[in-house]
Amino acid sequence: MSSTVISNIATLVTNDPSLGDGSPLGLIRDAAVVIDGDRVAWTGESSKAPATDNRVDAGGRAALPGFVDSHSHLVFAGDRTEEFNARMSGRAYSAGGIRTTVAATRAATDAELEANLTRYLAEALRQGTTTFETKSGYGLTVADEARALRIAAAHTEEVTYLGAHIVSPDYAEDPAAYVDLVTGEMLDACAPHARWIDVFCEKGAFDGDQARAILTAGKARGLHPRVHANQLSYGPGVQLAVELDAASADHCTHLTDADVDALANSDTVATLLPGAEFSTRAQWPDARRLLDAGATVALSTDCNPGSSFTSSLPFCIALAVRDMGMTPNEAVWSATAGGAAALRRTDLGRLTPGARADLVLLDAPSHVHLAYRPGVPLVSEVWRRGVREVARP
Ligand code: NIG
Ligand code: FE
Repeated sequence: MSSTVISNIATLVTNDPSLGDGSPLGLIRDAAVVIDGDRVAWTGESSKAPATDNRVDAGGRAALPGFVDSHSHLVFAGDRTEEFNARMSGRAYSAGGIRTTVAATRAATDAELEANLTRYLAEALRQGTTTFETKSGYGLTVADEARALRIAAAHTEEVTYLGAHIVSPDYAEDPAAYVDLVTGEMLDACAPHARWIDVFCEKGAFDGDQARAILTAGKARGLHPRVHANQLSYGPGVQLAVELDAASADHCTHLTDADVDALANSDTVATLLPGAEFSTRAQWPDARRLLDAGATVALSTDCNPGSSFTSSLPFCIALAVRDMGMTPNEAVWSATAGGAAALRRTDLGRLTPGARADLVLLDAPSHVHLAYRPGVPLVSEVWRRGVREVARP
């Protein structure tokens, strides 16, 4: 295995508070990172870096851990341009639009789904995402859900079974029978390909009792819960997520004080998805309220063709800083270490010895520029598992 030092980093985000300035970001100025194989071997001041086989000069750029996008829906076909256009002309968003993508996804071949997924992953990688979670949920038959997970599992370890995205249109007259399918034959077919189980707990999708039954069945099969909770309205999703020790309650747009308290006193991360509020012109989730209460907050894209068709965590960081009360440091933490926490991963989202060597160099001296220069393609290099996979001239 060969070792490489990346030196002359103006500002390094380590996400280790015992390093550098002692803040949660563990910022080190004039820093270096040593990579050995696919792991970080050392981080510190450039002048103290140990000898290595190879040297890379960061030229005064900022470096941070690769983004951990802990919530996306990337196995799908088609798009929903017209729905978006109509929404921006005043029509409201509803869970029902999912059916359009279900029809297109069922009609697609495996190769088409795989090609789409690969394209969006490449797009995300160019914007600094080195880890992503993705879900099924646009098949809603046993065979279509299982194939979505199989396709996803070829690209990531973080695969989520979301047969309970909406009640399948085939079961519109008998939602209870669909819940039986999701917790029975479909779960049997899907569990081997997934790590997580998710439910869209919302009016027009699944209520609290149905969601509890689905998540509990998944847990019994060794899947760990995460929940689409409190996105479009107040509801039982967040409390259920905490009750079942879900790794994450996602969206968290409509929260009571009791919901905020429950999150703050649990290991369930509040994952905020500002791309969804942007693309549905909805009220922003209140990150400040969650942070002040002591909750752990992650930021993710929710990339999907309906409610949030962005693969860009830099864009989400800028929105979170501008409109959700986060500081730039908090938003960067949430898109890296926060995403790792939402996936219960300790080897990601930090640049300290032993962590996976996933890192981003910015065409900027500081990570703050991610919010300060919104919409500007600042990601200049992306290293994943110790390999430079993106290098912009
Ligand atoms: O996270 N909320 C449920 N699912 C997606 C939307 C999916 C769609 O509209 O296609 C979300 O926003
Ligand atoms: Fe989602």
